Amino acid sequence: MSDTQAMIKLENIKKSYGKIEILKGVNMQINKGDIYGLIGKNGAGKTTIFKMILGLSEKNDGTVSIEGSTNEKELMQNRSKIGFLVGTKFYNYLSARENLKYYATVKGIKNSKEEIDRVLEVVGLKDEKKPFKNFSLGMTQRLGIGNAILGNPDILILDEPTNGLDPQGIADVRHMVQRFRDEFGMTVIVSSHILGELEHTADRFGIVNGGVVVREITQDDLKEKQASVEIAVDDLPKAKEVLTANNIRIVREVEEKSTLEDYYFRLVGGSKE
Ligand SMILES: Nc1ncnc2c1ncn2[C@@H]1O[C@H](COP(=O)(O)OP(=O)(O)O)[C@@H](O)[C@H]1O
Ligand SMILES: [Mg+2]
Repeated sequence: MSDTQAMIKLENIKKSYGKIEILKGVNMQINKGDIYGLIGKNGAGKTTIFKMILGLSEKNDGTVSIEGSTNEKELMQNRSKIGFLVGTKFYNYLSARENLKYYATVKGIKNSKEEIDRVLEVVGLKDEKKPFKNFSLGMTQRLGIGNAILGNPDILILDEPTNGLDPQGIADVRHMVQRFRDEFGMTVIVSSHILGELEHTADRFGIVNGGVVVREITQDDLKEKQASVEIAVDDLPKAKEVLTANNIRIVREVEEKSTLEDYYFRLVGGSKE
């Protein structure tokens, strides 16, 4: 994105539960059109950061700004343009459509049938008639994401949307996220404790550790840290043959995930085990 209009900005956000300070001065900025990946270990403070943005829990200090507004009244208005998945609660005996109908009513979406049809199509649950209690985890997450995009919000917050999903489910979420940004023009913030998971989905990252965003980086920053290039090929054995035949040594073959992970561990310490 060429324009860097801040959609959400957090300045020095602090949050304590009792005597324990959970957020210790969070600064971060999400720009219009970002797919912003918030990454950090379990307990780092990701969900708490989302609660501060959404106003679901009172902050102790600092400033939240959403589309330029910082006063509570405007903030509440702008928060209505944010769709979010922070935990999922659906009715067991209702179908996907019926559950969305309920939330559409809660959100005050009028003539919701068309919107619900659109959403069910997007998340691949259009023909699903089962009650929610018989949903797989993947279907549950898709319905949760569907609920989050109900009403076509400007900003979408997905807290660990791939948690517990199998590789196909993870790929589905990744494609949906890209579609939300590319087709629907949403600004998307997505968190994960699996460090490498967002590497090829997000274009900016906030790295959270111990209640602060220790660094914000872009895909380009990651590239600069690499002493190698990544080339996608359609015939890996052949590509290796060509490299070897030309005396180009293959120093290592990496799983897609390792670069962001490496970056993370360099920054915050610790190791993969
Ligand atoms: N309501 C709460 N009361 C007390 N402590 C909490 C509460 N919510 C979260 N915490 C603590 O705050 C820290 C950060 O939690 P959280 O934001 O959920 O991390 P993450 O989403 O990155 O896993 C954890 O140590 C967690 O135990
Ligand atoms: Mg969390």
